[in-house]
Amino acid sequence: MKLFIDTANMQEIETANKWGVICGVTTNPTLIAREGRDVKEVIKEIASIVDGPISGEVNSLDAEGMITEGRAIASIHPQIVVKIPMCQAGLEAVSVLSKEGIKTNVTLIFTPAQALLAARAGASFVSPFVGRLEDIDSNGIQLVEQVAVIFQSFQIKTEIIAASIRSPQHIGECALAGADIATVPFKVLEKSFEHPLTSAGIEQFKKDFEGMKK
Ligand code: G3P
Repeated sequence: MKLFIDTANMQEIETANKWGVICGVTTNPTLIAREGRDVKEVIKEIASIVDGPISGEVNSLDAEGMITEGRAIASIHPQIVVKIPMCQAGLEAVSVLSKEGIKTNVTLIFTPAQALLAARAGASFVSPFVGRLEDIDSNGIQLVEQVAVIFQSFQIKTEIIAASIRSPQHIGECALAGADIATVPFKVLEKSFEHPLTSAGIEQFKKDFEGMKK
């Protein structure tokens, strides 16, 4: 399973890119609004830092608007993936854009049926939301697993981006469930390096090394 970072913050992207663990970026209108910047400007800057797929989301709600916006976002850089919400208009837009060779990521996936429909419309990626399902007491990891089984059974090439990741535990669980990618917020990535036994081990090695020098 590959790792993307789920942010529009340039400092976070630069830092995570230096760690060498991420190979793509996802953004959404909430994350872009948090930065108070223009979506195209942000996406262009991200593409100059990370060498991998970068999802930029459309804001229109009708198919025609999504198609126009999608073409404009895709024209920013060859790495751009147009993120489109799961709905009838969204899949109509995915169908048109995919035939033009534009990559799409269908977001806000909460059922296996939604994932299958998105894949059949031509989506390059689907994004099941793990954390938001758990927020309503449903099983987000099970959703990822079910989508993975369906895609494997029918040799569907659409990649699964596990989204709405809230903990390091989610990362391991999504990998085991068969996600192709997990898109992870910076804070969760940071936490994923840590374990109390790792810190204690480093401290002990340091002490022993200092002792050896005396
Ligand atoms: O990018 C979409 C998704 O990852 C959002 O996560 O934490 O707002 O549910 P969250």
